[in-house]
Amino acid sequence: MWIYQKKLQYPVNITCPNPRMAKALMAQYGGPDSELGAAMRYLTQRFSMPDNRVKATCNDIGTEELGHWEMIGAMIYQCLRDAPLKEMEAAGLAGYYTMHGKGVYPADPNGVPFTASYIQCTGDPIADITEDMAAEQKARATYEHLMTLTDDASLLNPLRFLREREIVHFQRFGECLEILQNL
Ligand SMILES: [Fe+2]
Repeated sequence: MWIYQKKLQYPVNITCPNPRMAKALMAQYGGPDSELGAAMRYLTQRFSMPDNRVKATCNDIGTEELGHWEMIGAMIYQCLRDAPLKEMEAAGLAGYYTMHGKGVYPADPNGVPFTASYIQCTGDPIADITEDMAAEQKARATYEHLMTLTDDASLLNPLRFLREREIVHFQRFGECLEILQNL
């Protein structure tokens, strides 16, 4: 079970509307390498991990990714909240607005909705942890791309935090791989 804490893992306070960045951030909300994908991937792979330390790491990181997903959702909403419709249209969000208004929906920046086919659970621990390590690197690269798209500190600070967490997760999955190889 989970116990919910009513706060974000890292504060998000975006006051300047930014539909262009809202759209880009959707990569991490509903894209193939999104925080949602990360959380679902690790939380579902954990059941068949043969070692309790590895199981616990998948559980911890999967849980943290849900917190990151929440942060990204808050960022998208704050970027859209006060955005004039004209600016949403200019950012290419007319279709998004038609279907979702200013709500936060798990689709990527091109409007492709999230799907479980973005993730895998082979039941083979080495294959799964190797996928997880790649997922962390892909998320890190995505955060770096997002950081090149803005100079707004209220966006850059949480993005920097999230990028650093991907690096820590990559290292922790690396330790898991070593444990599995020595079983
Ligand atoms: Fe991560």
